[in-house]
Amino acid sequence: MGKISLLSLLSGSIWGTTLACLAEGILYPKVDLAGGTRLQVSGRWLREGILMANVVVVGSQWGDEGKGKIVDWLSEQADIVVRFQGGHNAGHTLVIDGATYKLSLLPSGVVREGKLSVIGNGVVIDPQALIDEIAQLKKQGIVVTPETLRIAENAPLILPLHRELEALREADDAATRIGTTKRGIGPAYEDKVGRRAIRFMDLADLPALHGKIDRLLAHHNALRRGHGLPEIRAQTVYDHLAAIAPKVLPFMDTVWSLLDGKRREGKRILFEGAQGALLDIDHGTYPYVTSSNTVAAQAATGSGLGPNAIDYVLGICKAYTTRVGLGPFPTDQMDNAIGKTLGERGNEFGTVTGRARRCGWFDAVLVRQTVLTCGIDGLALTKLDILDGFDEIKVCVRYRLDGREVDYLPAGEQAQARAEPVYETIDGWKEPTARARSWAQLPAQAIKYVRRIEELVGCPVALLSTSPEREDTILMKNPFEL
Ligand code: GDP
Ligand code: IMO
Ligand code: MG
Repeated sequence: MGKISLLSLLSGSIWGTTLACLAEGILYPKVDLAGGTRLQVSGRWLREGILMANVVVVGSQWGDEGKGKIVDWLSEQADIVVRFQGGHNAGHTLVIDGATYKLSLLPSGVVREGKLSVIGNGVVIDPQALIDEIAQLKKQGIVVTPETLRIAENAPLILPLHRELEALREADDAATRIGTTKRGIGPAYEDKVGRRAIRFMDLADLPALHGKIDRLLAHHNALRRGHGLPEIRAQTVYDHLAAIAPKVLPFMDTVWSLLDGKRREGKRILFEGAQGALLDIDHGTYPYVTSSNTVAAQAATGSGLGPNAIDYVLGICKAYTTRVGLGPFPTDQMDNAIGKTLGERGNEFGTVTGRARRCGWFDAVLVRQTVLTCGIDGLALTKLDILDGFDEIKVCVRYRLDGREVDYLPAGEQAQARAEPVYETIDGWKEPTARARSWAQLPAQAIKYVRRIEELVGCPVALLSTSPEREDTILMKNPFEL
């Protein structure tokens, strides 16, 4: 329990807490009373004696760690859910009372009534994919409106030409293959940093769009000529955008300002990361990465808030490891019975592309590293149930590289490919963890596994997930309460 909530318990009332905080010198001199029971303390909100946090959820491996389930579970306590990077390359699965929802671009808060969903400037948006996802959800009874979804005016757009370019680079025989989701994510981010992107707000000023399209095509048509492809006509791009503009513009907002206002009102913000830290463009297994920063600090840049808006970083972490697409994966068991069993039991098929995920043992070296690159305060350990029934379980504790042992993943592609895992073997457990909802329901050996992971990665487990269902979750530390 944090210092403040302990004090509040001792003092027994909000006024007692206020006095205690004043005594500590941490309460702003200008006390801001809102709703009678909230106070602002050191720029954060105190509700019923507990300091409220804004939480960032990030993947701590190569994606698909179960972020969707955990964000959905946490969103009950949040007012706003914000996506801050990536695009519709993400595939977040939510299972609610037996119904499955697959979200790619929309924040997971959309399935919950009364929550505001926000897509920040760090996201790349395919407007057609946005419309399609909203329509798909409507079929499932979830209605997304401009009252429940706001999109940053300065977010760059993904256009059909981005997908086409990526298809070329991802062709089976192409030397440029990464094994991407082929959604045009990489080429769209390239245009953003190349300062030629069409952005969401450009749809609101159609006359000015012509010049922007010319600038974009000066680059893309040169590339296409090089590849022997026909050039794209400016009018084709204009017609596509002009037709789609009225459908998406109602969602547009000045997100940095919207979120700043909500913070001042004392609303709780949950930042929903996509992909995972090892797919980060800087810190991941480059070049086999996605084209955005996936680490937690991006929550600030990708939403327009300062870094002090982030109070707690929750790293989502599978009890084993998976990866889709190409690239190094030291604990990969894809070609043997272990990998097959993990894949079948864990239903490890890509949400977006349906590709089989490569599966392997838990790699503590990698997660220890992402705990640091993301500043993870606590882990949500998911899919523990998939390990039920194994006689023994292996955990990678360091690598052997060129005749010596190292405790981190080297940055170079070739060195990463040469890193051989050194395993520690832990006895498995026979009783199920599946659907457990309390620590007491877990077999002793499963608890031992969790404790060993905490030790190896240097970070406590705050949440444990034991099935795809929202309620099958064990809480050790509430990330929203500091
Ligand atoms: P995300 O991309 O991180 O949101 O993860 P995905 O949705 O792509 O993949 C995670 C899969 O595991 C989904 O099918 C979830 O429903 C499922 N899942 C999440 N947590 C658990 C868990 O604790 N146990 C089991 N068996 N499945 C889980
Ligand atoms: P969620 O949010 C797992 C992978 C692709 C490929 C690489 C680059 O569901 O965890 P991209 O299309 O982004 O340019 O592909 O990144 N990738 C993911 N892998 N989960 C994801 O998202 C991913 N999004 C991209 O497979 O290796
Ligand atoms: Mg996924």
